[in-house]
Amino acid sequence: MSKRYKLYEGKAKIMYEGPEPGTIIQYFKDDATAFNNQKHDLIAGKGVINNRISEYLMTKLTEIGVPNHFIRRLNMREQLIHEVEMLPLEVAVRNVVAGSLAKRFGLEESTQLQRSIIEYYYKSDELGDPLISEGHINCFGWATNQEIDDMIILSLRVNDFLVGLFLGVGIRLVDFKLEFGRWHNSNEEVQIVLADEISPDNCRLWDIKTNEKMDKDRFRRDLGGVKEAYQEVARRLGVLTEINNIDLNNHNSLSVQDGLA
Ligand code: C5P
Repeated sequence: MSKRYKLYEGKAKIMYEGPEPGTIIQYFKDDATAFNNQKHDLIAGKGVINNRISEYLMTKLTEIGVPNHFIRRLNMREQLIHEVEMLPLEVAVRNVVAGSLAKRFGLEESTQLQRSIIEYYYKSDELGDPLISEGHINCFGWATNQEIDDMIILSLRVNDFLVGLFLGVGIRLVDFKLEFGRWHNSNEEVQIVLADEISPDNCRLWDIKTNEKMDKDRFRRDLGGVKEAYQEVARRLGVLTEINNIDLNNHNSLSVQDGLA
């Protein structure tokens, strides 16, 4: 395999220069981190599962017209994406009280919200990703008012679609986090598009009947069975059918199907 230039290594993914200008290869690692990197472990096969789940969800979102960075999956751990200028923001969408919302307001987890809540966080490990307002985003130049509007519209569309999609496979979409970027499209226009990933790493997913957690909270809260829960999400979505446990434990990025040259 030819040597590739590493652009950036994050907690759960690595970005490599893509084969053509304007493309990037997104590699999914098995690393799991929480509480601003204070907790770290390797969950064998997590990257393979998240690559598949994110591919599936981004592809569905493309089909309903939600612009996103995904081009195609390359192999077990990698996908080809459009190069975008990432906004330093995390957009959380909440349908049910959980996590930091429950903590911040002393609320009971699992209460259904009257309407979905959108929150913004500034991406900064040093500052611990502080909660911010639209005023901060605009004033500090992280995004324009138009871009904020675009993110809100896209986030709510993604939420509506994913709530229904997960409900169809017996899963409650409690909340999730999205990231957005500026993409210079083929018409020389700059457009806000969905980026990063959508997987059990950045969604809260509860079994509709038992309320069992099927997401990263299993890791955060030491509940065990992290990989099994992620696998179950993938199984219900109908992805990963052809991959067995041996493949999941394999750290090699190449698949027989369409490895990189
Ligand atoms: O922790 P909190 O309740 O604010 O998380 C809201 C949602 O955003 C959860 O689904 C969580 O998995 C996701 N999240 C994330 N990355 C972060 C913080 C939260 O994916 N850095």
